Order: sequence, then structure tokens, then C-alpha cells
Amino acid sequence: MTPPKPPSRPDRVSLLRYLRLFRTDILSAQPARLYRAWMAEFRTPFFRSYLCNDPALVDLVLKERPDDFPKSNRIREGLLPLLGNSVFVTNGETWKRQRRIIDPAFEGGRLRGTFPAMLAAGEAAVARLAERAGQGPIEIEAETSHAAADVIFRTLFSIPIEHEVAGAVFEAFREHQRAQPILNLAAFLPLPRWFPRFHSRKTRATARRIRSLITRLTEARMEEIRAGTAPADLATKIMVTEDPVTGRRFDTAEMVDQVAIFFLAGHETSASALAWSLYLLATSAEWQERIAAEADSVVGEGAVDFSAIGRLKAARDVFREALRLYPPVPMMVRETTRAERFRDRDVAPGAQVVLSPWHLHRHERLWDRADEFDPSRFATANGRECLRSAYIPFSTGQRVCPGAGFAMVEGPLLLAMIARAFRLLPVEERIPVPVAHLTVRAKDGIWLRLEPRVQLP
Ligand code: HEM
Repeated sequence: MTPPKPPSRPDRVSLLRYLRLFRTDILSAQPARLYRAWMAEFRTPFFRSYLCNDPALVDLVLKERPDDFPKSNRIREGLLPLLGNSVFVTNGETWKRQRRIIDPAFEGGRLRGTFPAMLAAGEAAVARLAERAGQGPIEIEAETSHAAADVIFRTLFSIPIEHEVAGAVFEAFREHQRAQPILNLAAFLPLPRWFPRFHSRKTRATARRIRSLITRLTEARMEEIRAGTAPADLATKIMVTEDPVTGRRFDTAEMVDQVAIFFLAGHETSASALAWSLYLLATSAEWQERIAAEADSVVGEGAVDFSAIGRLKAARDVFREALRLYPPVPMMVRETTRAERFRDRDVAPGAQVVLSPWHLHRHERLWDRADEFDPSRFATANGRECLRSAYIPFSTGQRVCPGAGFAMVEGPLLLAMIARAFRLLPVEERIPVPVAHLTVRAKDGIWLRLEPRVQLP
């Protein structure tokens, strides 16, 4: 079965219709030719934008000269109430300094340290699902969101999602998204200054609440660090790290901005990828059996340690294939700062450059059988080549996702643990339709039936 793909719009539509489509869903607002084109130029009265599918252009923008293609200030404006000056929205020297402090926390050795917390979150997720398995369809995105938020709180602050403050952040965040799906029109497009883009009172109120809860956690941690009683988790690591260049650490306010983005970037994305992975597994008996058998031998018995991750090969390939077909961050936008020439076309300063994992990952001239689910493709010559040149679920270059290694441990681990515990079945009358809001989600959720495979304690 070919996994669900959103419909494309007709090739030519009016600007108004495009904006309307865009507001509903940025995936179905695009024409089908983007799955074959190397570059596409969109001209509107307000802006020009260039969607780049040519791997050489993607490299130029993200790897070769990233400083010449910063994130636009509009993205910052859209996210300001919640994210302040977090690493996701800053540019230039501020961004560089922030990454120098954050990156060491996510290096290989540190990931080993986060493993027990991830395992505990996986066990808690399996226990929650066990209570509902066998009792009719389950909306799995809600479950994976819960699990991914749990992973973030356990690894960052050593507290489970049941902790009063963690649970309150998770709840407030859900409310925030209902008030304002963050990836909105104004954040993405350079609409004229007069275009209304204010944040609703509700958005500002939920953002304030999230930030005040995170401030409580961060201040308490600062105290524990001073008292020498802080646990050795990611928050402590980031808060005690000095920038090797300036010698400065994050103060509490700056740390709050970073925690907000870790929570946002780290749980929405992982939740989306895990939910789609589970759906894809539900549609493939062959891969489901392979993963369950692999998981049984790797995480089934006895003490499980970090080395298990290296042995979850089938789970990793399925997770990778889910990230290809349903990249949680479907598109990224940058801005030109000087005149450029892209594929023999002149591009003016201030133009929008769109990098689209969604289109690149399904590009018909790059990938064999681009729309098919086939985790074994990464062992083929085409799969290996495309992995290098046309696969950017975590972006690439200096602004690559700092949580990529973390996500590639968390995803396959939770996938294996869930597939080992339950047989997954699709719900025939509920085929998920992918849409892009903050991340790539299903229009009406992803529904699965779960049947217990193993006797759970
Ligand atoms: C499957 C899971 C994930 C995916 C697909 C993903 C994807 C991405 C992508 C594509 C970007 C670049 C966005 C852009 O340049 O516009 C990004 C940035 C970022 N991600 Fe992730 N991410 C994931 C998990 C995580 C986790 C677990 C964390 C932290 C715990 C995290 C933290 C961040 C941060 C802080 C940034 C901003 C980096 C910067 O701009 O320098 N992500 N992520």
C-alpha cells in the first residue's frame, strides 16, 4: 500500500486562493510539479520566493554559505511571545554563542546519560497504552505527544510528566496551540507591514503561563546548582556550561527561552515522527513482525543499556523511512541578504528561500519509488546516495537540529518498545490525511487498534 499523500493543488491559482489554501495546510497548497522540479519561483505582489529542490542549492544555503541566508525576522515575530530569544529564532553572533553552550549537552557521551530516562518514559508509555489496548481504536498522536513530552521532562529536568509543573506545561502548551497554530501565515510569508499579525490575548496569556511555569523549574534548578545538589541532567549541563569564547553562562531568563524551544522543538517533532512510524508499521505486517522480533531480542529481557540502540537496526530504518515520508518539519525558510544567482536565475536580496524536506524526500527524479514505504531502501545504492544528498529531516549544516542524535535514540527505542508490546492494526475507515500545522500531523488524528502481544506486568 502506498502511504497517504496529500492532494496537490492545480498548477495555476489566484494569489488569494493560494493564501487561503496556505492558511489551511501548506502541503496541499502546493502544485504537484514541485515533486519533479529542481527549483520553483513564486511571484506575488509582496514577495518572491524560491523553493529549492536541487541538492546543490540546498547545500549552498544550509552548508556552504549559511550566514548569507539567515532566518527572517518574521519567524521571530511569530514566535516571540513563547520563545523569546531562543536559539531557534536568533541569528548571527547571539545564535553562535547560544549554540556553543547548547551543543555539548547533546554530544554522544551525554546521550548515553539520557538513556535510562528515555527507557523509563518508554515503559510508562507502554503501561498507559496497555490500559487502553483491546478496547477499540486509539488516537495515537495524542499518546505519542504525551510520551515525547515525558521524555523531554525526564531528560531535561529529571521529572516525569506526572510531575505537577511538567503536566501543567504540557496542558498549557496544548491550549496555546489551540489558540494559535504557531506555523501560521504571518510567520512564514513576508506580508506587508500593515497586514494584521497581532497575537490574540489568549495566545499571549497561554505563552505567559508556559513561561512562568518554566521559570519556576529553571529558578529551582539554579538554586540546586548553587547548593551542589543538582541532578546531572541536560538542564544542569546546559546551565553550568560556559561559552568557550566569552566565558559567559546562560542566565535564568535566557535559559527559560532555551527550555521553551527544547520543549517545543523536541516534543512536537518526535511525537509526529513516532505516530507516523507506528501507522506505517500498522500497514506492513512484514516490518511489524521484524521489529517485534528484533525488539524482543534486544529490549525484551534483562537490563537494557545504551548499546541496545546500535542493535535496533530495523527500528532505526523504519523510523528513518517515516522521517523521509512524513518529515515533522516539512519546510524551512531563509532570506537572501545579497543578490544571488540560482540555477541561472537572478535572485534579489530579501527574497524568501524555501527548503522543503517534504518535497526533497519525495522527489521523483531523486528517489526510487519515492512515495512507497520501504525501509530497506537505505541499503540500496539509490537509498545511500539520497541519504547523503536529499535527506534533511533535521536540516543540515551549522543550523542542523541539535537534538538529531537524541531523536534518533528516542524514536527507534520507543518504536521498538511499543511494537514489542502490541500488535498494531490500522482502522480501515480512518486513513490519516497528512497536513502541516506546526509539524506534519494527520488531519483528524492517527487511529490505530492495539492488541497486546506480550504479558505485561
Ligand atoms: C524527530 C525529531 C526532530 C526533528 C525531525 C527535528 C527537526 C528539526 C529541524 C528541521 C530543525 C531546523 C529548523 C530550521 O532551521 O528552521 C530543528 C531545529 C532545532 N531543533 Fe530539532 N528536531 C527534532 C527533535 C529535536 C529535539 C529532541 C530537540 C531538543 C531536545 C530539538 C531541538 C531543536 C532546536 C533547539 C533547534 C533550533 C536549532 C537552531 O536553529 O540552531 N529537536 N529541528
